[in-house]
Amino acid sequence: MPQLFPRQVNVLPAASLFGALGGGVLVVLLAWYYLSPEFYEVGYMPDQPVPYSHALHAGQLGMDCRYCHNHVEQSPHANVPSTQTCMNCHGVVQTESAKLLPVRESWATGVPIEWVKIHHLPDYAQFSHAAHVNVGVGCESCHGRIDQMEVVYQAEPLSMGWCLECHRAPEEHLRDPSLVTQMGYAEAVRADEDAYEAYLAENRVRIQNEDIMPPQNCSACHY
Ligand code: HEC
Ligand code: HEC
Ligand code: HEC
Ligand code: HEC
Ligand code: HEC
Repeated sequence: MPQLFPRQVNVLPAASLFGALGGGVLVVLLAWYYLSPEFYEVGYMPDQPVPYSHALHAGQLGMDCRYCHNHVEQSPHANVPSTQTCMNCHGVVQTESAKLLPVRESWATGVPIEWVKIHHLPDYAQFSHAAHVNVGVGCESCHGRIDQMEVVYQAEPLSMGWCLECHRAPEEHLRDPSLVTQMGYAEAVRADEDAYEAYLAENRVRIQNEDIMPPQNCSACHY
């Protein structure tokens, strides 16, 4: 769906628009804008069957993302963990917790927990986690500070323009591939101007040496 208004429309006094356009038309146009995918997907935060917290497990307890999302470096899709992974700990930790009842039920019956998927690309767009993670694009560049989220929400638009923004300037987003799961890295490299310049220069050298070329041709993402 096309973007009818630039973002700034949010701060325009509604009244002046109202006068210019007439109430009925305005309501329709604003509804169109606010319901366009780019608007409502950011912040999408569905209820989950278990109140699992990334802020606790990945934040406080410091667990690496790959302990649970262990296919992320090998496959296009990042997997959500099986009940077995939870039971590695919850077979002995918090065994009486009511919040974990659905996990114990899933374990007993063999029926997987039905986690609600949050991030969606349309079928006509191709995306691979492995291709990004292995070259050193961090999880937080696309998912935000998951380690601070009690409940995961979509932090970035995942629109075509968003993909291309990084593909045009990958030097602003690369890191050592061994640090892809480190949270707070992106903010830290931007904190000091000189250090950030050095970071960009280092990445430009890497991009040359390793021939890193994020595609901008249509057929790379649509086929
Ligand atoms: C203890 C296991 C565990 C760890 C560790 C973990 N996750 Fe998750 N993750 C889950 C589970 C379970 C879900 C599905 C439920 C939910 O969305 O909260 C999930 C969901 C997600 C989603 C949303 C997937 C969707 O449906 O679109 C993202 C993104 C994500 N995790 C990223 C991360 C990142 C980044 C890290 C490391 C900072 C991490 N996770 C660490 C278990 C884990
Ligand atoms: C370059 C951007 C990017 C990076 C880097 C990235 N993701 Fe994703 N992630 C996405 C997109 C886009 C989707 C939605 C994919 C789809 O619908 O096919 C997604 C979906 C997911 C999902 C849901 C399952 C799936 O594959 O659809 C999980 C879990 C997840 N990401 C975890 C991670 C973890 C953990 C990392 C870091 C190790 C990571 N992601 C790095 C963009 C990214
Ligand atoms: C590496 C060990 C480990 C793994 C794996 C793990 N957890 Fe936890 N979990 C913990 C610890 C430790 C606590 C905090 C216990 C406490 O506060 O006493 C906890 C707490 C919880 C709680 C809160 C329980 C309560 O009553 O307050 C929930 C819910 C939970 N985990 C869900 C999950 C789910 C779902 C998975 C699998 C996706 C999972 N955990 C995997 C260690 C783990
Ligand atoms: C934060 C930066 C960043 C974002 C955001 C990003 N990419 Fe990339 N992308 C890269 C980098 C870096 C490469 C690696 C290029 C290389 O290896 O030469 C890449 C490579 C690719 C490739 C070629 C590798 C392959 O899988 O065949 C495709 C296709 C691709 N990206 C699709 C996407 C799509 C679709 C999105 C949006 C949903 C996206 N990217 C978002 C940085 C990014
Ligand atoms: C880096 C990956 C990437 C490249 C390159 C790319 N696209 Fe897309 N495109 C996407 C993604 C991701 C979406 C889905 C966006 C969404 O869900 O909002 C998309 C959506 C679209 C749509 C649907 C309408 C829309 O805007 O949402 C069209 C049409 C389209 N692309 C055409 C093209 C054409 C033509 C090119 C070449 C000039 C191209 N794309 C290059 C990733 C890409």
